[in-house]
Amino acid sequence: MCGIVGAVSQRNIVPVLIEGLKRLEYRGYDSCGVAVHQDGMLRRVRSTSRVAELTGLAAEDGVASGTGIAHTRWATHGAPAVHNAHPHFSQGPGASSASVGRIALVHNGIIENHDELRAELKQRGYVFSSQTDTEVIAHLVDHLYNGDLLEAVQQALPRLKGAYAVAVFCRDEPHRVIAAREGSPLVLGVGGAEYGENFVASDAMALAGVTDQICYLEEGDVVDLQLGRYWISRRNAETGRFEAQQREVKTVHAHSGAAELGPYRHYMQKEIFEQPVAIANTLDAVNGISPELFGDGAYRIFKEIDSVLILACGTSYYSGSTAKYWLESIAKIPTSVEIASEYRYRDSVPNPRTLVVTISQSGETADTLAALKHARAQGMTKTLTICNVATSAMVRECELAYITRAGAEIGVASTKAFTTQLVGLFLLTLALAQTRGQLAEADEAEHLKALRHLPVAVQAVLALEPQVIAWSEEFARKENALFLGRGLHYPIALEGALKLKEISYIHAEAYPAGELKHGPLALVTAEMPVVTVAPNDALLEKLKSNMQEVRARGGQLYVFADGDTQIESEPGLHVIRMPEHYGALSPILHVIPLQLLAYHTACARGTDVDKPRNLAKSVTVE
Ligand code: G6P
Repeated sequence: MCGIVGAVSQRNIVPVLIEGLKRLEYRGYDSCGVAVHQDGMLRRVRSTSRVAELTGLAAEDGVASGTGIAHTRWATHGAPAVHNAHPHFSQGPGASSASVGRIALVHNGIIENHDELRAELKQRGYVFSSQTDTEVIAHLVDHLYNGDLLEAVQQALPRLKGAYAVAVFCRDEPHRVIAAREGSPLVLGVGGAEYGENFVASDAMALAGVTDQICYLEEGDVVDLQLGRYWISRRNAETGRFEAQQREVKTVHAHSGAAELGPYRHYMQKEIFEQPVAIANTLDAVNGISPELFGDGAYRIFKEIDSVLILACGTSYYSGSTAKYWLESIAKIPTSVEIASEYRYRDSVPNPRTLVVTISQSGETADTLAALKHARAQGMTKTLTICNVATSAMVRECELAYITRAGAEIGVASTKAFTTQLVGLFLLTLALAQTRGQLAEADEAEHLKALRHLPVAVQAVLALEPQVIAWSEEFARKENALFLGRGLHYPIALEGALKLKEISYIHAEAYPAGELKHGPLALVTAEMPVVTVAPNDALLEKLKSNMQEVRARGGQLYVFADGDTQIESEPGLHVIRMPEHYGALSPILHVIPLQLLAYHTACARGTDVDKPRNLAKSVTVE
């Protein structure tokens, strides 16, 4: 989703800004732009194409300067079009529509009171040339400008309702960028003395290569970047005055998102095949089960809780939904799983003895962060996150954490983050079971053995790729698909359907197989492929009856069956044989062929697999 980079330097910073945007590309965007302060004027280039195009546009127009801001936009207000792309310039009273004002601004987030501000600014003579909520901020800062950009921004911020990270500069102050955050992530990067440069960006990864000296700005922070110095302030809610703030600058070794593709066609394929290594890395420091895997003080917290509340979005929500089965059956702890965007606005009954577990690949998902705050505000202060980014807001905000080591995930459709989250959640289940006296030593040893063997087991499932490719050619011709699963594997069916719809644009729905006859059976015809997740578990016989219901209506079944299920192919029943049943960890194996099916179906349909239409990797607005 939207990404911001800004800089003040004594060298031409345009290539650095564009490189920063490239490192943020993985978040998903539909337009981009760069603006600089040049020869006493605001200059910009914008595009609805790729970030790489900005380099050529900047060179053609001779756009070069030491002070600038850059942005990747994921449309919320106004279509993806050049006139809506950031940076936005103010167009003050009296200016003709072709002229530009003195303020340039980029924004990530949503300004909820933009209509009201737009009406007010129009009355004052401001000219709007976009449909964005962002443009009102540029005009508002211009309106409040009286020779000091910091003052103007500080006056403008209290008038904004909603979430934002902004970076702004002014025609009249050549070596200054002001940035601020409230609800959207922003970091300050302190550059070397050679060029006296300082940066702001949406995350540390955007600045990899220029600085590893990172300060994570806090909610409400305003930072004044100048050559060789920076100053952070925050508004005191009581006095309304902005006061200086001290923030720690840390050395952060952020990895570049632009990892090499190697022999793979897409990042998603690469990431599917990286799962054995990602799982092994996630388990690397695990020598035994103990609460301390989740941080100091975990034992005390685990002892005090009587339930678990999992909050997440998207694929992370499905890993949480799977974990509920583990937590209740193995650790015997009541667990609820909620979609973060629903929970944050719902009247619920808070229980201070609940462990609040957020799950997030990025650690920056706005709804999950807001749901966490909502839980805390209700007195649920025992918090833990399963997260893939150690430096993210989620990890900083939670008391306990387990960092999955999936490595950078670039493909919008999450794969290795999901399976490593499941590993983290299984460890949490075992640690809670142990604390609650529910884990016999022999069982612990068995579970650990199964976990350690997982990378090899996943490798064996990946070897089924050629068979999945053969199926995907048939799927590519369909417009609808049903996915069935039961118990622990129902969330896996949900995740399989999500993968297929995200990247191949085939309408896919998942059902617990027992629900088939309560509705979806009406959809079953020879044209509707029914993908079935068939582990050899206690529900297998029930599942076989559900499969008969489909066959009796002429439906075509595509079954991923454990090797020991005795389900054989026959007309209308297509079977890919998985390895033997893998017990409690079986969902981690069963999701792999569903990822491959979605991937190859999307390839056969020729979609943009890594950047599916309308979707973003990191959803930093609500
Ligand atoms: C977006 C991504 C999904 C991801 C979801 C939650 O929708 O496209 O892949 O599952 O956000 O993101 P998180 O980073 O919190 O896991």
